[in-house]
Amino acid sequence: MSDDRARAAAASSPASPDSAPDQWADGSWEATARVVDPRGDDRERQVEAALRPRRLSDFPGQTRVRDQLGLVLEAARRRGTPPDHVLLSGPPGLGKTTLAMIIAAELDQPIRVTSGPAIQHAGDLASILSSLAEGEVLFLDEIHRMSRAAEEMLYLAMEDFRVDIVVGKGPGATAIPLELPPFTVVGATTRSGMLPAPLRDRFGFTGHLDFYATDDLVTILRRSARLLDVAAEEPGIIEIARRSRGTPRIANRLLRRVRDWAQIHGQHVVDLDAARAALALFDVDNRGLDRLDRGVLEALCRRFGGGPVGVSNLAVVVGEEVETVETVAEPFLVREGLMVRTPRGRAATALAWEHLGLTPPRPSAAYEPGMLPLDDGSRLGG
Ligand SMILES: Nc1ncnc2c1ncn2[C@@H]1O[C@H](COP(=O)(O)OP(=O)(O)O)[C@@H](O)[C@H]1O
Ligand SMILES: [Mg+2]
Repeated sequence: MSDDRARAAAASSPASPDSAPDQWADGSWEATARVVDPRGDDRERQVEAALRPRRLSDFPGQTRVRDQLGLVLEAARRRGTPPDHVLLSGPPGLGKTTLAMIIAAELDQPIRVTSGPAIQHAGDLASILSSLAEGEVLFLDEIHRMSRAAEEMLYLAMEDFRVDIVVGKGPGATAIPLELPPFTVVGATTRSGMLPAPLRDRFGFTGHLDFYATDDLVTILRRSARLLDVAAEEPGIIEIARRSRGTPRIANRLLRRVRDWAQIHGQHVVDLDAARAALALFDVDNRGLDRLDRGVLEALCRRFGGGPVGVSNLAVVVGEEVETVETVAEPFLVREGLMVRTPRGRAATALAWEHLGLTPPRPSAAYEPGMLPLDDGSRLGG
């Protein structure tokens, strides 16, 4: 193994010093599952890997992104050249990593997996880039967390397929340009608003993943039940789908918890009663809100009179990181019409008060969804 390859392997393998190995059963790994989803663990990631669709045609939901991506990939395949770089954005658990794997599979190319936080220095990225084979897919998860210097190197590599390797130190240092074979970057981010415009512009295709409709989650759950060998009745599946916050990762997780419940109670099938009882036990309410979602709403209404309040204050009260509140709870609460983003901060809607069984202190304290809609609040006063 050359030095370059060894360094590349170090930055794109689970063995980086600050993170425990997060290896999926399919050989891929995910450095960020812990960051965006504190509730995931190693075992869960293994089960998830087994449930990942492998092909675009197996991937339910996200029809727009799927159709557009299918076209981009098919055209590239016919031309015999790598497709444009692809950026996938959206909340955790909606299928970004899955789609990255699918892209490589559809192109019949190997995939190299790394993530923003794993690339501490531009040199780490240089080693990965210089060891890529022609046509290879480079998956950069949590791409918004890459260092500035690495970002600049990436612009050049994405645009001109070139990287400047700096040799030596101090005044004697020289940059030796190195040509790269054409390859495809697939970037994933939960915070597309945090990507600098020059980087965003270098992606020829951007797919924004949205929460799934219940029907699509039902399709996903039926497939998962089959793969996990769980007998499930339709009403039970529908109940789980309805209460999964539009998120396949959560749907699959709840299916396993309901299966556990049924098993402990001597039931051989997952039915509606099992679903209801297990979901209640795991604190998933009838709108699918989990503890974090409800914590945020409760804080907003009880501590801040419905807002508006900055997201960092909210995060302190619920004892979570700002990033978790912004990327996990908030997009769902906004989508459900329970919270709005205003230029002065986050505010509860009338529906939020109602859902918590509370009365707004004064009518004007409850915002309506649609007031001052801002589709990307990540740069708002937090
Ligand atoms: N469209 C889908 N169909 C079936 N399963 C899906 C789909 N999207 C996601 N999943 C499941 O949810 C899990 C989480 O998806 P993942 O791609 O890791 O999400 P992200 O990278 O966006 O956080 C996967 O392991 C997979 O089992
Ligand atoms: Mg992922």
